[in-house]
Order: sequence, then structure tokens, then C-alpha cells
Amino acid sequence: MKKQMRKNILKARMSLDHRQVEEKSAMICEKILNLAEFKKAQAVMAYLPIRNEVDVKPLFRFLWAEGKRLVIPVCDPPNIAIIPSEIIDLADDLEPGTWGILEPKKDKMRPVSPRDIDCVIIPGVAFDPACNRLGYGGGYYDRFLPKLRENTPKIAVAFQVQIVPELVPDVYDIPMDMVITEENGYCR
Ligand SMILES: Nc1ncnc2c1ncn2[C@@H]1O[C@H](COP(=O)(O)OP(=O)(O)OP(=O)(O)O)[C@@H](O)[C@H]1O
Ligand SMILES: [Mg+2]
Repeated sequence: MKKQMRKNILKARMSLDHRQVEEKSAMICEKILNLAEFKKAQAVMAYLPIRNEVDVKPLFRFLWAEGKRLVIPVCDPPNIAIIPSEIIDLADDLEPGTWGILEPKKDKMRPVSPRDIDCVIIPGVAFDPACNRLGYGGGYYDRFLPKLRENTPKIAVAFQVQIVPELVPDVYDIPMDMVITEENGYCR
């Protein structure tokens, strides 16, 4: 059942200490930086990590240095929607929002069309080697991902403790194109 698995995997991820999270995250970011799908993207949607999610912030600096656009998902709970918004300054643009996730301040919302996003880096609770995803249970990404262009790469990042042998996806669950961990890379 999805609910029990979320609980177990989140517990395993929370048991990683800060140093492990940073080390493993650095290895994952290094792999992402070398992916053609990432390298050729002009606008990348990533996220701001919470609760021991893979820390993808090292990618931000790289994107900005290359003159590329960083987009983050902003939760819109009334509509169960994700609003992609461009971030240009981590220090100045953000404040705590839904579920304590950092979000753009009202006057720093810079909505980006999903059609203008070239690559998406996606967090989650658990993944399997076939690139199925178990998220937090809101169905936010499952509703958002179909709005992207058909061929936009969907790249999930996770720690190896989040990989399970098999997930049984529901019909509305959108699979990932790739899942990158500190030890492995899975392709669909
Ligand atoms: N495309 C969709 N349209 C309508 N309802 C959907 C869609 N996708 C998912 N849902 C609904 O959202 C709920 C949560 O879905 P699910 O358990 O797969 O969440 P999740 O993928 O773990 O969450 P998240 O993507 O937010 O991390 C389900 O009850 C499902 O019916
Ligand atoms: Mg789902």
C-alpha cells in the first residue's frame, strides 16, 4: 500500500545524517551536470529541498553561471496545481510557504509556461528500477507533468535507500524517464 511505503521510506531517508545527505547529493548533482538532457536545457525546473530530499541547490549556481533559467514549483493547494516560477536570487526571492517549503514572495512570482521548460528534476518518496514514482500523495506532479512538452526529460533524483524493487503504479501515475541515485542510474 502506498501509505505504509511512504512512511517506511521517509523514515529511512530521515535517518541519513546531514553529512551523508550532502555527500550523496553532491554525487547525484555531479551526474546530473553530465547528462546531455540537462546540459542542453535552457530552462530547468528543479526544487528547493525539504526533509532530507536530495539537495539539488549545487545545480542552481551552475545554471545561473551558464546564463540559463532556474524554475521552481510553487504549490497552489486550492487548485492542486504546481505553478512553475523563475528564481533569479535565492537570498532575495524566497520566504517559507506551503508546508514550510521555500516559495517566491508574492512580488517575486515569475510564472513560466510549462511549455518553456526543457528539463525537470523531480523529487519523490520512492522509485523503482522501472522509473515508477511514489510521491507525497498530493498528486501534484501527476497533474503537472502532462502540461510539459511531450519530450521534456523527467529526471528524478533520490538516495539509494529510496529505491524499492517494485512499485505498482496507478493509471494516473506519470513515470520518470530517468532516476539518478548516488550509486545507480535507472532508465525507462
Ligand atoms: N492527473 C490527475 N488528475 C486527477 N487526479 C489525479 C491525477 N493524478 C493524481 N490524481 C489524484 O491525486 C491523488 C494522489 O495521487 P498519488 O497518490 O499518486 O500522489 P503522488 O504522486 O504520491 O503525489 P505528488 O506528485 O504530489 O508527490 C490520487 O487520489 C489521485 O486520484
Ligand atoms: Mg502519483
